[in-house]
Amino acid sequence: MSNIVIQKTPVVVVGSGLAGLTATYKLLQQKTPVILIEKLDKFGGNSIKASSGINGAFTSVQQSYGLDDSVEIFLKDTIKSAKSLGDLQLQETLVNESKKAIEWLQQEISVSLNIVNQLGGHSTKRTHRSDGIPPGFEIISKLQKKVLEFEGLDIKFNSKLISIDSQNDKIIGLKYLNLLDNSEIYLKTNNLIVATGGFGFSKKLLQKYKPELVDFPTTNGAQTLGEGQEIISSIGGSLIDMEQVQIHPTGFIKQDDRENNWKFLAAESLRGVGGILLNSSNERFVNELETRDTVSNAILKQKDQKATLVLNEDMYQEFKFQIDFYSKMKLLEKTTIAEKFKDDTTKVIELLKKYSQQPSDSNNKDENIEIIDQYGRESKQHVFKNVSADSIIFSGEITPVVHFTMGGVKINTNGQVINTKDQIIDGLYAIGEVSGGVHGANRLGGNSLLECTVFGNRVAQHIINSDIDVDDDIGLKLKQQLVL
Ligand SMILES: Cc1cc2nc3c(=O)[nH]c(=O)nc-3n(C[C@H](O)[C@H](O)[C@H](O)COP(=O)(O)OP(=O)(O)OC[C@H]3O[C@@H](n4cnc5c(N)ncnc54)[C@H](O)[C@@H]3O)c2cc1C
Ligand SMILES: *[C@@H]1O[C@H](CO)[C@@H](O)[C@H](O)[C@H]1NC(C)=O
Ligand SMILES: *[C@@H]1O[C@H](CO)[C@@H](O)[C@H](O)[C@H]1NC(C)=O
Ligand SMILES: *[C@@H]1O[C@H](CO)[C@@H](O)[C@H](O)[C@H]1NC(C)=O
Repeated sequence: MSNIVIQKTPVVVVGSGLAGLTATYKLLQQKTPVILIEKLDKFGGNSIKASSGINGAFTSVQQSYGLDDSVEIFLKDTIKSAKSLGDLQLQETLVNESKKAIEWLQQEISVSLNIVNQLGGHSTKRTHRSDGIPPGFEIISKLQKKVLEFEGLDIKFNSKLISIDSQNDKIIGLKYLNLLDNSEIYLKTNNLIVATGGFGFSKKLLQKYKPELVDFPTTNGAQTLGEGQEIISSIGGSLIDMEQVQIHPTGFIKQDDRENNWKFLAAESLRGVGGILLNSSNERFVNELETRDTVSNAILKQKDQKATLVLNEDMYQEFKFQIDFYSKMKLLEKTTIAEKFKDDTTKVIELLKKYSQQPSDSNNKDENIEIIDQYGRESKQHVFKNVSADSIIFSGEITPVVHFTMGGVKINTNGQVINTKDQIIDGLYAIGEVSGGVHGANRLGGNSLLECTVFGNRVAQHIINSDIDVDDDIGLKLKQQLVL
């Protein structure tokens, strides 16, 4: 009898991005069985593509670089970027638990996150990633491996959630479509975590909530259709801030595939390490490290709605792994100033010299140097030193792209779904990009991976703390499978 390890009914998690996988890990770790449903045939969603990093305030990594940061400053940056929209409780929870989230990834999932970068709208360097490997790929592959080591996980790939069954505002089950044979399967459960991501690829939902963006290019995978938001709304769940769609300023225009509406993202870290933007008159026009909405609007105001991203070799060294990838994909080109700017070479050299004369780093301010950057840029991790016509640069053409949906399902700090009568739907949770309220009108770079980790952990903890009875056949079946 003592060899019965599992005494709980399975929780159903839908979506295998960072939010779904974090919750899955935490549940399995505490011996709660999980059925994980994913409509694709692989793990990771948009999370696996994340290229800049994950935020944390007052972390040991920041301290090791002597950086001054606090939960309060991080919260202030988040609220300012959100333009006071969204849910303050969720925002406080996000920042309060950021240090814990980073430590969990480092200590339990073995993600080193040893580098910190400053992204747009942040007052300091707090976006963490590891050297030599993109953050989304590293986090998802390591977490996936850990999750698969536990007992009690039943993974159903090629399985699409199509409806949720509830009775008196209490979850009793769900239906999914097996995409391989087109059969519909009903699963009973009292705890359903929906982690299906955003709706940046859904023309239907963009048409409904933000029609002016329907024809915009996007960085989102084709699976990003907002099915979670629609299904939850159909059983009475509340949706908030759905018209808040984030345009990311820098999607790469691939020279041999210019018209493709799907674009590779030019990671914000390219600007974080020092990259600047020039318009087609080869002039700067914005503080490149303003929040995403501000930089995007500035680009959209240029005549041709695009810009050239320019970096040098020092910046390359700082972000080598990813720049090598972008170069291989012919998104960034290694060239010289003269080759790139031709007749404007002298003008650009002067511009880069002028720009680089104020190498102000907000964390290393020389009190005697006044920050006189023309556009108010304070953080210049690397500048253009010793510029001449033969200086090596990396350059690429970029344009704004639909990137992230801030709005979504209304939740409380436990990730519980709130219905239109402002009550909790018992047993239904929404976490990650499918939820709304954490980012208000504009998400800070690095806050999405953080949201997935923080709220993934919180829903799992909430479910574990609520008593689950072994009262249905799925629970019993899984329990039998799990008897050692
Ligand atoms: C190119 C790119 C770079 C980014 N870089 C960063 C970064 O550096 N830092 C940061 O913080 N954020 C970044 N983001 C944003 C961040 O990656 C995502 O917002 C976040 O990962 C969302 O995680 P999620 O778990 O909520 O959803 P996802 O990771 O998108 O996962 C959702 C999963 O649910 C599945 N699914 C959807 N519908 C159904 C259904 N009906 N049934 C079954 N399964 C379903 C999908 O197939 C998918 O696998 C980036 C985004 C992109 C696109
Ligand atoms: C976040 O932490 C602060 C300071 O400890 C606390 O006052 C606040 O209530 C916390 N917020 C939430 C939502 O837990
Ligand atoms: C480029 O930016 C400068 C400075 O804001 C502006 O004067 C110029 O008109 C812009 N050029 C284009 C093509 O938009
Ligand atoms: C500056 O650039 C010139 C020409 O590119 C090069 O010959 C010289 O060595 C460089 N000086 C320094 C200090 O890097």
